[in-house]
Amino acid sequence: MEKITVVGAGAMGRQIALQCALSGFNTSLNDSRPEGLVAAEAFTRDYLDGRIAKGKLSEEKKAAALANLRFCPDLADAAAEADLVIEAIIEKFEPKAELFQALERICPPKTIFGSNSSNMRGSRLAETTNRPDRVLNIHFFNPALVMELVEVVVHPKVPAEVTEAVVAFCRRIGKTPVVMRKEIPGFIVNRIFRALTREAISLFEEGYASAEDIDLAVTKGLGHPMGPLRLLDTTGIDVSYLARQDEYEETGVETARPNRILKDMYEKGEWGKKTGKGFYTYPKD
Ligand SMILES: NC(=O)c1ccc[n+]([C@@H]2O[C@H](COP(=O)([O-])OP(=O)(O)OC[C@H]3O[C@@H](n4cnc5c(N)ncnc54)[C@H](O)[C@@H]3O)[C@@H](O)[C@H]2O)c1
Repeated sequence: MEKITVVGAGAMGRQIALQCALSGFNTSLNDSRPEGLVAAEAFTRDYLDGRIAKGKLSEEKKAAALANLRFCPDLADAAAEADLVIEAIIEKFEPKAELFQALERICPPKTIFGSNSSNMRGSRLAETTNRPDRVLNIHFFNPALVMELVEVVVHPKVPAEVTEAVVAFCRRIGKTPVVMRKEIPGFIVNRIFRALTREAISLFEEGYASAEDIDLAVTKGLGHPMGPLRLLDTTGIDVSYLARQDEYEETGVETARPNRILKDMYEKGEWGKKTGKGFYTYPKD
């Protein structure tokens, strides 16, 4: 595996692409919004300069990473020669399925398609393509440049050599992969996180304690580095709401149904840090 394409240059995609470029992969980053790519490029340069200022990166490594990373507004240009495409676009089934179908027309048959979805089973996306054996979940965590874990979630159509190639890729970019051999929406970490956040949100919406005190209780009482409500604001209320709503619509399982306040916040555009307001408010800068 040498050439990587990342589609979706938002919070996740820009960092996944940079991690690949820093690890020596020839990487293309695409976004359907030109301003998304401009912001991703600005982020990349700021991040690399910040690492240099902290003495964690050399000028040579910065130059090598920038040489490895292309910002491509055209999907065909970005993906035509990819060995692996990782999609990190909006957490909705239809756009992801449409993207994979478009990629199928662009990419050679060998190309593996990975979805960074936080929740959606890869087999649902695989079934919409003619290469179900090469479509699976490759789930990174936020911030992708820092968090080591990647969940590789396979389904019965994915042969061992594809899983092995993806696991080897994850290791080459310095990550720690875990393989889920049987699919379930939300995978491992988000299922556990969701159980925690469902209860934290419910305590908040029923008025039992403030967001600050709920988070303080979890950090000081359970030793978590960040409280669940602060973490929801950081990962994005929209991402959590859409993931849970998608699972609820697919499975009808009551525990997947988004809490009432999560739906309200999603509809009001209170998506956490990215919009300046979530469970907490954030200054503009
Ligand atoms: N935010 C997190 O903490 C987190 C963690 C793990 C996984 N994920 C998953 O990663 C994916 C992206 O999440 P995010 O937080 O980076 O979202 P985001 O909103 O920050 O970025 C999404 C980007 O995708 C672009 N986009 C949308 N449709 C597109 C298309 N058809 N083609 C090309 N680009 C398109 C948008 O312009 C945007 O720049 C989602 O599936 C999400 O569930 C998110």
